[in-house]
Amino acid sequence: MSIQAKPLHSVGVHMKRKEDPRFIQGKGHYIDDLSFPGMLYLSLVRSTYPHAEITNIDISEAMKVPGVKAVITGKDLEAAGLGWLPTFHGFDKQMVLAIGKVLFQYQEVAAVFAETRAAAVDGAEAVQVDYAPLPVVADPFASKTDKTLLRPDRESKTNHIFHWEVGDKEGTARAMASSPKRIKQRLWFQRCHPAPLEPCGCVAYFDTMGRLQFHVTSQAPHVYRTALSLVTGIPEDKIHVMSSDLGGGFGNKVPVYPGYVCAIVGALKLGRPVKWIETRTENLTSTGFARDYHMDVEIGATADGNVTALHVATTADHGAFDAAADPSKYPAGIFGIVTGSYSFPVAHAEVDAYFTNKAPGGIAYRCSFRVTEASYAIERGMDILADELGMDAVELRKKNFIRKDQFPYPSALGFTYDSGDYHKTLDVALEKIGYTALLKEQADKRARGELMGIGLSTFTEVVGAGPSKHFDILGIKMFDSAEIRIHPTGAGIVRTGTKSQGQGHETTWAQIVAEELGLDPQTIMVEEGDTDTAPYGLGTYASRSTPVAGAAITMAARRIREKARKIAAHLLEVGEGDVEWTDYKFQVKGVPAKTVTMKEVAFAAYTNMAQNEPGLEATYYYDPPNMTYPNGAYVAVVDIDRETGETKVRRFVAVDDCGVVINPMIVEGQIHGGLTEGFAMAFIQEIQYDAQGNNLNTNFTDYLVPTSLETPHWETGNTVTPSPHHPMGAKGVGESPNVGSPAAFVNAVIDALSPLGVRHIDMPLTRDKVWRAIRDAEAKKKA
Ligand code: CDP
Repeated sequence: MSIQAKPLHSVGVHMKRKEDPRFIQGKGHYIDDLSFPGMLYLSLVRSTYPHAEITNIDISEAMKVPGVKAVITGKDLEAAGLGWLPTFHGFDKQMVLAIGKVLFQYQEVAAVFAETRAAAVDGAEAVQVDYAPLPVVADPFASKTDKTLLRPDRESKTNHIFHWEVGDKEGTARAMASSPKRIKQRLWFQRCHPAPLEPCGCVAYFDTMGRLQFHVTSQAPHVYRTALSLVTGIPEDKIHVMSSDLGGGFGNKVPVYPGYVCAIVGALKLGRPVKWIETRTENLTSTGFARDYHMDVEIGATADGNVTALHVATTADHGAFDAAADPSKYPAGIFGIVTGSYSFPVAHAEVDAYFTNKAPGGIAYRCSFRVTEASYAIERGMDILADELGMDAVELRKKNFIRKDQFPYPSALGFTYDSGDYHKTLDVALEKIGYTALLKEQADKRARGELMGIGLSTFTEVVGAGPSKHFDILGIKMFDSAEIRIHPTGAGIVRTGTKSQGQGHETTWAQIVAEELGLDPQTIMVEEGDTDTAPYGLGTYASRSTPVAGAAITMAARRIREKARKIAAHLLEVGEGDVEWTDYKFQVKGVPAKTVTMKEVAFAAYTNMAQNEPGLEATYYYDPPNMTYPNGAYVAVVDIDRETGETKVRRFVAVDDCGVVINPMIVEGQIHGGLTEGFAMAFIQEIQYDAQGNNLNTNFTDYLVPTSLETPHWETGNTVTPSPHHPMGAKGVGESPNVGSPAAFVNAVIDALSPLGVRHIDMPLTRDKVWRAIRDAEAKKKA
């Protein structure tokens, strides 16, 4: 049956988002909408120094501010055994409030609780903290020397956090040494911030039964409940975590932040609800940043352009605590995807992480754990190689793509890519953008001295963490779950362990149920984010929802269908073996006139079930057998003004392959959003620190978010290569545009500047940086 002929809003259909009416009417339910009788407000005192000893904290003036009820410091928390918080992947701990010294500017130093938000802020300003400045380490390369030891609290007395490597070191070195062609380039993926529209926040209180009621902006509510229980000692049944609507997350709402712990402590100490909502500046300066990877990329090739070896050595800046939210066995995330879409016979990747006096984080900003960095490295590397070989970037890619017939493909760094057709996806993109005509236009423009660039990115992602044999967070395996209940009238409810932050789960999860059970998705309610009702799951980030929870929903629905088949047989008065599921209903085999719908079966499940078990519900915990490997071919066309360095993205074509698509409109929306973020990182965004460790991008006048005026027009398309191991054939998609697009933008700019001899510029490609590169290149030519 073709997609258009489907009778219901099931899989593959452009169904309007069920959640949007409440959002567009301003009726979403966000954390700051919550108010409880007697609620207090929490404001945090933050360090003005990046590295300093705390010589004294005087709270006396703060306590005099009208409305201030209490002030707590790190020492108070330490006395209560709550001074430190384990970080998510479990190899480090983080101070809740600074004890003895501060390690980054804006670090949390004291917590002030007051009757109003204004009084809490005034109280925080009145806390007097005396500091004795210490030497600042603001550069991971300087950190390597261990001249200033940042974390004497740790057993190993070094700023080096970890060394991680994968692949064949000696084999790669040998292959590289004997390669006729080699390129080597350092690429820095600058520090960025996800900057969700709604910052982080929570409301905590203990109810009359002494149970912690915790409303919080969390992408992973169940993990929060378990982590809070482990940290505070409160039994897990006495903790109720609730995340309602979230104004974006992008990985920023995965870690547990000091503000949350302080709110809970305040609620316990003062016996009243406590609300904490961070400001934009607090969000940008202290909650999980992303990237900050300095990558030395080396590619070997034959003279005619067959890749022979890949080596990537990375220096990672993790800030003051190792708070990267990565699965336990993956301290450098899934960086091993760095071989990308290409058939490298041998490869080796290594990452060394260091402490610096910067905010902690390293979270998976719309990325499946360092896949964005990896993708950028290989896609820039391939362009540099094409330049070195004097080969067209398309030709080089096509020559080295993993072929369609090679899947499942074991990569040199240990992944088994599930499926793909890279040649086809690239051809669709090239056709759409009119590549041949563009090359001609570029040649003409170059002859006139104009700067026009065409940039490609043909990336492969790895999403859907993950198979329990490899993936866990704090030891909890990264499965996910779904519970489906069908009510007597054929309406129903789906609950999962994931948590939408705007991705449209209320719509797509209902569409999966519609596809599997033939019910109307408009009457399938989706509920996520409440640990009292949802089955246990690891949450939404890293594009894992569709690959893992989407699969769990499919399997739970199929369980329901099997139960329903028995009732259908009873209604159709035949044996169960004579009933088949066809065209979204049960039918007696070979008798198209004898059918019964799922809606009828649902009613019978409560009214006329004969000897069958009453009710129609099922739960499924899904442990994926493999990750999914979405991929795409992106092409950017830019024009650069030679006099000002201003870059205009004239066209951008994105062709994505995320396997079977549940809702093409939602997927397109995901692509548009992610491309806009990729554009921002490529051209305007960076969290910068000066040499003294001062954060220079503390608000939206310094950390720019593109508006509709700057954002280019996106042209999208897709190819479909189903995932062979996912029950619906779907792969994740939310991260792809963020992962794939930065390299396309940078490749386009460098292609435009290549006639001047420019080989690389680090992001963000601001107009002054591009202008300087043009000027320097012209000066060099003249000299
Ligand atoms: O984990 P997260 O929800 O961020 O990412 P995702 O699984 O890639 O899904 C993002 C949105 O796109 C969800 O609403 C998905 O159900 C939808 N999607 C889809 O319609 N078809 C796919 N093949 C993949 C995702």
